[in-house]
Amino acid sequence: MRVIASAPAKIILFGEHSVVYGKPAIAAAINLRTYVRAEFNDKGAIKIEAKDIRVPGLTVSFSENEIYFESDYGKAAEVLSYVREAIELVKEEAGRNNKGITVSITSQIPVGAGLGSSAAVAVATIGAVSKLLGLELTNKEIGKLGHKVELLVQGASSGIDPTVSAIGGFIYYEKGKFERLPFMELPIVVGYTGSSGSTKELVAMVRRTYEEMPEIVEPILVSMGKIVEKAREILLSDLDESIRFERLGKLMNINHGLLDALGVSTKKLSELVYAARTAGALGAKITGAGGGGCMYALAPEKQSEVATAITIAGGTPMITEISREGLRIEEVIL
Ligand code: PMV
Repeated sequence: MRVIASAPAKIILFGEHSVVYGKPAIAAAINLRTYVRAEFNDKGAIKIEAKDIRVPGLTVSFSENEIYFESDYGKAAEVLSYVREAIELVKEEAGRNNKGITVSITSQIPVGAGLGSSAAVAVATIGAVSKLLGLELTNKEIGKLGHKVELLVQGASSGIDPTVSAIGGFIYYEKGKFERLPFMELPIVVGYTGSSGSTKELVAMVRRTYEEMPEIVEPILVSMGKIVEKAREILLSDLDESIRFERLGKLMNINHGLLDALGVSTKKLSELVYAARTAGALGAKITGAGGGGCMYALAPEKQSEVATAITIAGGTPMITEISREGLRIEEVIL
C-alpha cells in the first residue's frame, strides 16, 4: 500500500510579533506544498528520503536508536526531526507495530524562510502515515498532532503553523483560540530574501526594546492588534472585492511600517517591499519574524510585474494564492 499526502505552507498576513503580547493575528495557507509518500517496506525500519526539499538532498535511515545520515545539511536535518517525531506519534496512536515504513519527501516550500516548512512536513507526514496505518483522523486532529510534534522538537509553539497547514484557508488566532475566517481569493507574491532571521532572537530583541521603552512600544503593539481586528472585519464583510483588496493593502503597508519601527525589517526586506509597491502592489509587508525570511505583496492583476520587480531587487519571487485546502490525500494505492 502507498499513500501520498500534501500540506501547504503558511504566511502570517497580519499580527506577527504583537501576537507574542496577547494580541490577535491572521495567518493563511498558501499554494506551496510539501508532498509526503508513505509505504511499507520489508526491512522493519523507518526510512526517510528527502530528495528535494529546497535544500540540498539527502537520505537518512534510522532504526531504534541509530540514525544514518548519508549526508548532513543542517537545515535538512532539522526538517527530518519533525518527520521522525511525526512518524513516532502516529505509530503510538495506531498501537505499536514493527512494520517498516519508508517516507519520501519533496517540497516546494523553502526551508527556514518563515513559511512554515517544518509544520507542513509534520502535517503531511502525519496525514500519509496515519492513512497507511488505517487511522481515521480529521484534519483538525492532525493539526493538533502537528502541534504536539512542534512542542516535542522545538519546545514552544503557538500551534498556528500546523493548524493553518492542516485546515487551510484563513485562520484568526487569539490567545490559543483559532477561528476560521471565510475564504476569499488573494492574488499574492511572496518574496524570499534568501536569508533567514532567528525568530527567537528577533522576539527577544523586540522584548528588550519593549522593556526599555514600554510607553513607546506599547502603542505600536496596540495599533498592530487593531490592524488585525480591522483586517478580520474586512474579510468578514461583503464589500466589493476591489475595495477589500485596497483596504487590506493599506493595512499591510501600515503594519509593515510598524514592524520596521520595531526594528525587525532589514535593508533587503524593505527593498523587496518597496520594489513590489512600485510595480503596482496594493500593499506589501514582512511576513513572519523578519530579520530576513520573506515579505509578501497583494497584487491583483500585477503578480507577474511584482514578481519581476522582486527578482530585480535581488529576491526570489513565488507567485501564489491562498490555499482553501489544508492537508490533502493525493493518492492511495492499495
Ligand atoms: O518565523 P515565523 O514566520 O514562524 O513567525 C514568527 C511569528 C512571531 O510572532 C514573530 C513569533 C511567534 O511566536 O508568534
